[in-house]
Amino acid sequence: MAVERTLSIIKPDAVAKNVIGQIISRFEDAGLSVVGARMLQLTREQAEGFYAVHKERPFFGELVDFMISGPVFVQVLEGEDAIAKNRDLMGATNPKEADPGTIRADFAESIDANAVHGSDSAENARTEIDFFFKSDELCSR
Ligand code: PPS
Repeated sequence: MAVERTLSIIKPDAVAKNVIGQIISRFEDAGLSVVGARMLQLTREQAEGFYAVHKERPFFGELVDFMISGPVFVQVLEGEDAIAKNRDLMGATNPKEADPGTIRADFAESIDANAVHGSDSAENARTEIDFFFKSDELCSR
């Protein structure tokens, strides 16, 4: 299996709950490593740019409002099959439908405040990583 990188965001609800460390432990326990990370307060422009692919969807405004409602923790995870592995660890978009033991089942309250974001394809992972990080800000082991 190929070693991949993927972008993970710990969203404002999970940051506010003080569970950044618990969520990172889920990734590390599954064999993924953090190779870059930063805490930041997104601007409206950044959030709209990051989620531009969803701008026609009815929830776009709510999604942007939520993502700028408090700080987020952005990180790049690296490991074998990292993109799919991260999505599996996250669980379904709607926490009410997420499998028990997934991050969203354990830490998220609702579909709009769902604790984590993860890239859904190799192409999007590259784009999303480049959105937040310069290559010299990422350090593999
Ligand atoms: S996914 O995970 O991309 O396949 O999910 P998708 O359903 O396409 O949703 C894209 C992002 O929009 C968020 N979302 C919502 N936000 C607010 N309100 C509602 N109703 C809603 N439905 C979906 C969802 O959490 C996805 O955000 P990210 O950050 O990509 O996980």
